[in-house]
Amino acid sequence: MSSRAAEMESEIPDNHVIVLFGATGDLARRKIIPGLFHLAMAGLLPERFRIIGSAPTAFAMTTDQFRTYARDAVRQFGTNTPEGEVWDEFEASLSFAVADPDDSTQLQRDVIDAEKSIGGTVRRLFHLAVPPDAVLAMVEMLGSSGLNENSRVICEKPFGVDLASAKKLNGVLTANFDETQIFRIDHFLGKESIDNILALRFANRLFEPLWNRDHVCFVQIDVPETLSIEGRGAFYEETGAFRDMVVTHLFQVLGFLAMEQPTSLEARPLRDEVHKVFETIRPIDPAHVVRGQYDGYLEERGVAPDSQTETFVALRAEVENTRWKGVPFYLRTGKCLAESRQVITIGFDEPVMRLFPMSKKAPEWRGNKLVVDFADPGSIHAHFLAKEPGPRMHLDSAEMTFHYKDSFQAASNLEAYEHLILEAMLGNRSLFTRSDGIEQLWKVAAPLLESPPPVERYARGSWGPDSISHLITPHKWCLPQ
Ligand code: BG6
Repeated sequence: MSSRAAEMESEIPDNHVIVLFGATGDLARRKIIPGLFHLAMAGLLPERFRIIGSAPTAFAMTTDQFRTYARDAVRQFGTNTPEGEVWDEFEASLSFAVADPDDSTQLQRDVIDAEKSIGGTVRRLFHLAVPPDAVLAMVEMLGSSGLNENSRVICEKPFGVDLASAKKLNGVLTANFDETQIFRIDHFLGKESIDNILALRFANRLFEPLWNRDHVCFVQIDVPETLSIEGRGAFYEETGAFRDMVVTHLFQVLGFLAMEQPTSLEARPLRDEVHKVFETIRPIDPAHVVRGQYDGYLEERGVAPDSQTETFVALRAEVENTRWKGVPFYLRTGKCLAESRQVITIGFDEPVMRLFPMSKKAPEWRGNKLVVDFADPGSIHAHFLAKEPGPRMHLDSAEMTFHYKDSFQAASNLEAYEHLILEAMLGNRSLFTRSDGIEQLWKVAAPLLESPPPVERYARGSWGPDSISHLITPHKWCLPQ
């Protein structure tokens, strides 16, 4: 059996040299370095490995400095403290090598030395945690230097800013790597609760028979964040909430929610089914979109004084196939909102007949809801109607709940990045996005990118501009609860 389940249980990756480009950046410090150490603690790193942090000359460090930097990163952002035997071994595996797009001499030498010290067959994993404008040059450098041999490459989003730039990026990647070597990471697909959508739907008989237009009246994918743009003004001006969150994360979640059952969990059939969903999403109609900008965004560093970049977006997407035609998919995300949540709500139609009187406190809408809270550690809630205790047959809302944190051995949980880096080392591409999928999503996005509605202001700590309630009529946003 070569399914992902079997791999996770029994396989340890081949011996590896891991090269972390952008080692001095925020992503490496917050997620990747602590994540690699957590993998080491969980016994999931290869038997023999070396980790080379890399950055251009302007950000050069010595190996000693990099080790200190890594220790601080683990201490500040990791789930494990940087001490003990595993840390000592992990720290000894770390080194630093400069790599510029036009000069990879030191990196080439250090990779080869690391491979020799490991001995035998060693795979290379390049993690490109670098800004979008640096990706193309680094990929070309990997190709021209021959470092791409026997390797895999993890690419970070954004995968372009529109169809043309995504095609260009994919063209450069495939000119230097075989598609089987390329791992486009979308960390939402590494979250336990998103993976669990597959199990919830296809390993249970309870939900899937209702998972279609005959029973579902809306789907909401809601990812409000209390965070601001956190000093990322220059990056955010180029992307905005739609590119940063929707074309990547939220559409990928939609893919898992709307897909047909794949013939297996192998990468090809799984990604084929997701791709079919992307092919049936209607091009986004700008009339079904609300773009917002939080008060004070224009004063953020790196932001143009007349910026029309959205820090909030809510939209209605439509999946035009036999299963979903007519069911609205409402997507919402934004910065500086009232709460940080990551929630999917499936709204089921009311029963045909209203047989029961309701209690006075009961909600007006009588449909059931299945709510997947996918912020780690994640939970699932089924909202239904139940008889209120007492002599009368009055109904009120009730809830059945599953909490990951109370149900399994949470200690073995991998954070999304850790999970995906492990999958990349194992060579399993099921949870990584495909070039044609990304290009299709940019096609879906094109009408909105061409004619975006003007941004509407919203107060920090709110739920976005007022017009979002019109967007969702006759339904209602399920958040705030
Ligand atoms: C990133 C976005 O990809 O995802 C951020 O660039 C966003 O803007 C983040 O805050 C949210 O992901 P998570 O899982 O870290 O909450």
